[in-house]
Amino acid sequence: MATPVTTIDVHPTELTEPSAGAPTAAQAPAVRKLGGRIGALITGVRLGGHLASETVAAVRAAVLEHKVVFFRDQHHLDEEGHEAFARLLGNPVAHPTVPSADGRYALGIDSDHGARANQWHTDVTFVPAYPAFSILRAVTIPPYGGNTLWANTATAYAGLPEPLRVLADSLRAVHSNDYDYAALRPDAVPEALAQYREVFTAVTFRTEHPVVRVHPETGERTLLLGNFVQRLSGLAGRDSRALLDLFQAHVESPENTFRWQWREGDVAIWDNRATQHYGADDSGDHVRTLRRVTVDGDVPVGPDGRPSELLEPAAVPEPAFGPASGASADA
Ligand SMILES: [Fe+2]
Repeated sequence: MATPVTTIDVHPTELTEPSAGAPTAAQAPAVRKLGGRIGALITGVRLGGHLASETVAAVRAAVLEHKVVFFRDQHHLDEEGHEAFARLLGNPVAHPTVPSADGRYALGIDSDHGARANQWHTDVTFVPAYPAFSILRAVTIPPYGGNTLWANTATAYAGLPEPLRVLADSLRAVHSNDYDYAALRPDAVPEALAQYREVFTAVTFRTEHPVVRVHPETGERTLLLGNFVQRLSGLAGRDSRALLDLFQAHVESPENTFRWQWREGDVAIWDNRATQHYGADDSGDHVRTLRRVTVDGDVPVGPDGRPSELLEPAAVPEPAFGPASGASADA
């Protein structure tokens, strides 16, 4: 698919490749708000492993404020450059069970591997210290559809009526990677179901998180829910489902979300501690390929100071390559 030509607001000298090991001169990112409560477009930055610390700080601040930020035309980025940029935000971590495409940290999000994310979720919340940031790069984009939606879980919490905020503050929820995939994907081909069972749930994780997380960098309270939640702790099935639906509806309300139409070369960075996202599965059989690198997070704490707790297994096992997302739960 032809890539539309757009203008990037950078000085031409900034487009030259930096020499190895040397940070580039500080760039001046321009941040333009896209949604009322979430989303911003950043121009004037060529992503890579050599950004000046001031540029990295500006990008990080924009992610914390706007929850998800987008960059166009980052065609120069390959797996290595993607990972090198991720290192400027923190330590890249491997998915606890899904092997990466090439033994590096980049996880393939491929339409032909049955790995469609058309459920609202926060990445890897079935482990305690799930990733702080996810960085998604568009490699092959279908001619239509395949958008990703993000929701701001801080404004979702802040917008709750006070009695519901008080209730949420008191709740905890069990998250697991072992959910009924076949029920969610009745159209899934047998190969996709088999792959899901063999790979994604090779190890069953169960983690109890507070429903309200105090963000470690911004201090904001966020709703920590999404489709890895099995039930609310201490509540029976129907009560649990009703309350989860109630809170989740506030997360997903259109005013609280932003929808991005991908082009090849786009990069999205989101604060995985303050968002949920959803990959729309509406591109038919067209190929959609993205690469995701996640950066390590820390163990959530609730408003009462109580941390998340790994229930199963006894510890997060080492993946085949690098530290697992959530491994710092043991620290
Ligand atoms: Fe995801």
